[in-house]
Amino acid sequence: MKILVVGSGAREHALAWRLAGEGAEVHVAPGNGGTTEVAVNHAVDASDVPGQVALARRLGVDLVVVGPEAPLVAGLVDALGQAGVRAFGPRKKAARLEGSKVYAKELMRRAGVPTADFEVFDDAAAAKAYVRRAGRPLVVKADGLAAGKGVTVAADGGEAVDAIERLMERRQFGDAGARVVIEERLLGPEVSYHVVSDGERFVALAPAQDHKRAFDGDKGPNTGGMGAYSPPPMVDTALEEAIVEEVVRPTLRQLRAEGQPLVGALFVGLMIVDGRPQVLEYNVRFGDPETECLMARWGGSVVELLDGAARGDLSGVEPLWSAPASLCVVLASSGYPGAYRTGERIEGLEEASAVEGVVVFHAGTRREGDAILTAGGRVLCVTATGASIAEAAERAYAAADRVRFSGRQLRRDIGWQAR
Ligand code: AMP
Ligand code: GLY
Repeated sequence: MKILVVGSGAREHALAWRLAGEGAEVHVAPGNGGTTEVAVNHAVDASDVPGQVALARRLGVDLVVVGPEAPLVAGLVDALGQAGVRAFGPRKKAARLEGSKVYAKELMRRAGVPTADFEVFDDAAAAKAYVRRAGRPLVVKADGLAAGKGVTVAADGGEAVDAIERLMERRQFGDAGARVVIEERLLGPEVSYHVVSDGERFVALAPAQDHKRAFDGDKGPNTGGMGAYSPPPMVDTALEEAIVEEVVRPTLRQLRAEGQPLVGALFVGLMIVDGRPQVLEYNVRFGDPETECLMARWGGSVVELLDGAARGDLSGVEPLWSAPASLCVVLASSGYPGAYRTGERIEGLEEASAVEGVVVFHAGTRREGDAILTAGGRVLCVTATGASIAEAAERAYAAADRVRFSGRQLRRDIGWQAR
C-alpha cells in the first residue's frame, strides 16, 4: 500500500514510522529530517492544497493521511475526493468543528454536550460591555484558527477587554478574530481524548495528558506541547465511559444528523470538573505530542485503523494496546515558544534510540549531508513505552539526556501526575 502523510512534525513522523513498519510505502510532504528514515520526503507545503493533490496523483497513492488542521479546514480532503484519492481526515464542513469555535460551541449546545456557558459576539463594544457586567472570570476565544494562540484565560476584566481589543479591533489574527466566544472559566485537570471515526462507527484510543506550559511545574508561556503521557491514572473506567457517552457519541451523532459525518480523528480537549467531563475544544486531527505516545502504544494495525476510517468501514477494528504506558518528552530550541535559533547540530540520536522501548521522533529538524540540524522550536519528541508511566519516564529521560544540541530546552516533570 502506498500512503502520503501530509505535515512536517513529530506527529507525522510517528504516523509514518508506524505505517512504514507495517510494510506500507510511505511518502511525507513536506516531512522533516527524521521522516526520511522511514519515508520519502517531498517539498510540498502542508497547506498547499493543489500541490498536495497533484503530488498524491503523481505518486498514485492509495491513501492520504492529513496531519495538521490548516489543510483540513482549507478543504484538502474535499479536493482529494474530487481527484478520486481516498483520504483520512474530515471534509471542510466537518473541519469547522476545529476551524470555528462558534460553530463548535453551537454544535455542543445542539448535541447537549457538557461545556462552559458561552456567548458569541461580532461587535467589540458589546463584548466589552458583557465583560464589564459579568464580574466573574472569563475566557476569550478567537472564532477562527490562530495557531493555538487565540485563547485568553483572563485573570480579570482588564485582561478580557485587552484580549477583545487585540482580536476584534487590532485583528491580531486577521479575520479569525472577527467573532469571539466568551465563556465561563472552568477549573480542573485537562485530558486529551482521541477517537478515530469512519463517519458511522468509531474506535476509541486511550486517554492522554499533554503539558502545554513551557517550564516545569506548569509554569511559563503556552507552547504547542512539551510532552505527553498515556494513560492518565485519573481517567478511570467510569470517567472514560462518561467521556464516550456524554461527549464522543452525541458529538458524532449530531454531525451525522446534520449531514456532516466526521471521517478521521476527533480529538476532544476536556477539563474534568468535579469528576465530570467538560469540553474545552474539538480538534479534527491527531494531537501533537499525544499522537507520539498513542502510536508508540497502539497494538493493532495503524494501516487498518486509518484506511478503514477513510474507506468508511471500521467494523473490524478493535482498540488494542501493546504497552501499558507511554510518555514523550519534547526537546525544544532555547527561547521557544518565543524567538529561537535554528541550524544547531544534533548529536547522540543513535545512542538515544538504543535505550530500551525508546523511539525518537523528529519535529523541527532537517538533514544536511550526514548531519541532522535543528530547524524549528520543537525539535525532537523522545518517546518511550513501559510497564508503567514511571518506567516510560525513566526510559524517555535516559534517552533525552543522550541527545545534545546547543540551547536544548526540556521539561523534567512530564507525567508528574502519574510518577
Ligand atoms: P482551547 O484552544 O479552546 O483548548 O484553549 C486552550 C487552553 O485554554 C486549554 O487547553 C485550557 O487550558 C484553556 N481553556 C480553554 N477554555 C477554558 C475554559 N472555559 N476555562 C478554563 N480554561 C480554558
Ligand atoms: N497537544 C495539543 C494539540 O495538538 O493541539
